Amino acid sequence: MIETVQDLATLRVRVAEWKRAGLRVALVPTMGNLHAGHFSLIELARRHADRVVASVFVNPTQFGPNEDFARYPRTPQADAEGLAAAGCDVLWLPSVDTMYPYGADAAVSVRVPEVTATLEGAHRPGHFDGVATVVSRLLLQVQPDVAVFGRKDYQQLAVIRYMVRDLAFPVELVAAPTFRAEDGLALSSRNQYLSTEERACAPVIYRTLQAMRGAVQGGASRPGVEAQAAAALAEAGFQVDYAVVRTPDLREPVDGEAGPRVALIAARLGSTRLIDNLEFDA
Ligand code: PAJ
Repeated sequence: MIETVQDLATLRVRVAEWKRAGLRVALVPTMGNLHAGHFSLIELARRHADRVVASVFVNPTQFGPNEDFARYPRTPQADAEGLAAAGCDVLWLPSVDTMYPYGADAAVSVRVPEVTATLEGAHRPGHFDGVATVVSRLLLQVQPDVAVFGRKDYQQLAVIRYMVRDLAFPVELVAAPTFRAEDGLALSSRNQYLSTEERACAPVIYRTLQAMRGAVQGGASRPGVEAQAAAALAEAGFQVDYAVVRTPDLREPVDGEAGPRVALIAARLGSTRLIDNLEFDA
C-alpha cells in the first residue's frame, strides 16, 4: 500500500516513526509522469533502504520562461499506481504553496557555482538554481538517509553532489544507471512530445554517443570527435545545442591524457529537447 502525503507535518511524523524504529529511509525526487526509468530508481532505492519516499513535484523554479512548465505532462493517478507497484511506501506530493511558502518568486534560492557554468547551465540559465533550490528543500523535508538520482541527467547529478558536499547534507547519494528503450533512446517524460517520425530518429543520439566513445578510444582528437558528432546529428535532422567530451567534473580533457570521460549531447527534434550521455574510459 502506498500512502499519499500532501502536508509537511504528516510527512515528518511518518519519517520520524520509521527512524525511531531504526529503519533506513530513501528519497527518490521526481517531477512525475513516471516511466520505467523512474521505477528503476525506486527499485534501486529499495535495495539501499527499508522505506522509500518518492516525491512528485513539477518545480516551477527550474523551468525557463519559454520552457514547458505549463504543458509538462501531469499524470497523478498513474504515478501513484506505478509507485505502489514498484514498492514505494510514501508518495510526497507537495503543492507549490507547501514547497514555496513565500511563493516561487520570493524563495530562498540555492546557487551552485562551477559545475553549472557550462552545457545545460549555459543553455538553460537559472535551471540548476531551481534544481538545487528544490532538491535542498526536499532533502530538508524528508531528511532521508539516502537519495537516488539518475545518471541520465549527468550534470544535474554533478550539481547535486557539489551541493550535498558543500552544504554537508547528511545524506548518501546513489547514482542509478540510465534506463533505455530497446533501440537505445533514454526514457524521458519529454519523449512523448515526439511525433512518430521524430521518435524513429531519436535513437541517433545514443548511436552518436557510442560513436564518440569509439572515436576517442581509437585515439581521435577531441575537437574532431565533437565536430563529427554535431555534423551527424544535424544530418539526421537535429538542432544541436552541444555534443562534447568532458571529464567527469565536466571540464575539457587534455588531448592524449587517459582517464574517465563522459560524452554528452543535447539536441532538439522540432520543439522537443533531448539530453543523453555516455560514460567511458579513454
Ligand atoms: P525527472 O526528470 O522527473 O527525473 C527524476 C529522476 O529520474 C532524476 O534523478 C532523473 O535523472 C531520473 N531519470 C529520468 N529518466 C531516467 C532514465 N531514463 N534512466 C534513469 N534515470 C532517469 O530530474 C528531475 O525530475 C528534477 O530535476 C528533480 C531532480 C526531481 C528536481 O525537480
